[in-house]
Amino acid sequence: MSTLVVTGASGRTGSRVAAAARAAGLTVRAASRARGFDWQDPSTWEPVLRGADAAYLVYPTDVGAPDAPEAVGGLARVAVGLGVRRLVLLSARGEEQALPTEEALAGSGAEWTAVRAAWFAQNFSEGPLLDELRTGGELVFPGGAVREPFVDVRDIADVVLAALTGGDRYVRRALEVSGPRLLTFGEAVAEVAAATGRELAYRAVSPREYGERLAGFGVSPEEVEFLVELFTSLLDGRNAHVSDGVRQVLGRAPRDFGDYAREAAAAGAWKP
Ligand SMILES: NC(=O)c1ccc[n+]([C@@H]2O[C@H](COP(=O)([O-])OP(=O)(O)OC[C@H]3O[C@@H](n4cnc5c(N)ncnc54)[C@H](OP(=O)(O)O)[C@@H]3O)[C@@H](O)[C@H]2O)c1
Repeated sequence: MSTLVVTGASGRTGSRVAAAARAAGLTVRAASRARGFDWQDPSTWEPVLRGADAAYLVYPTDVGAPDAPEAVGGLARVAVGLGVRRLVLLSARGEEQALPTEEALAGSGAEWTAVRAAWFAQNFSEGPLLDELRTGGELVFPGGAVREPFVDVRDIADVVLAALTGGDRYVRRALEVSGPRLLTFGEAVAEVAAATGRELAYRAVSPREYGERLAGFGVSPEEVEFLVELFTSLLDGRNAHVSDGVRQVLGRAPRDFGDYAREAAAAGAWKP
């Protein structure tokens, strides 16, 4: 395998997969809208895939979105037709809404792997949860007191690269990856606070109240409905257990949330 297409290459996992692949000596084709690749425009798929050996698939904004199966299945069929058979999809642990997307990938004839990730640790330092925490000192989220084994996206990237380059070992398999420790959202914010030396708080709200806040920020009614349903199911306790995918694939323990928080704090992630 020498040429890898990385979708979502400017995002949280894609940027790390691209970096890890380059470090391993692979040629990376970074794909995102800024580079002319658009999931919503099938005419942009072939140019980025042609001549590549494998691809990492990240479907924005969510792998369980209603339009994800058609897009991921469609792109996978184009890829297989061009001889790009090894496809690794970023999926989500415990997300029933993502199963049709995984099935569409599997139905394409690809040598597929689904990497089902827990909630990212980096949700606290990159992406939509960051702003309130950094500027307002408070995270408002419908996480209740449910416990989650937040996973470091660098571990996801390492597992993705292993799945892409590990021969047939991970083909036609779903790998579940999590961090090593269960934390409530409140405990996670407390670890971020300790790492930054700032007073940071977590306020649990109901999914419905969270949806109303999102609508207030201008999120469309369809997206609000999808996210409220998604968070209600994902945060009902079904994911309050660790998974051993990182150890299974990489032969080492996953990175710990506390180490992540200290590194991100030192890099200035939560400086107001
Ligand atoms: N957050 C979590 O805790 C979690 C847990 C498990 C699974 N997931 C899954 O992770 C995925 C998101 O991955 P991520 O966090 O690594 O990505 P991300 O940081 O949200 O970045 C999204 C990437 O997709 C690109 N993009 C956006 N719209 C696009 C379009 N229409 N066509 C082509 N590219 C587009 C963006 O670049 P441009 O804007 O330049 O196009 C960017 O590179 C979702 O499928 C989600 O379900 C998330």
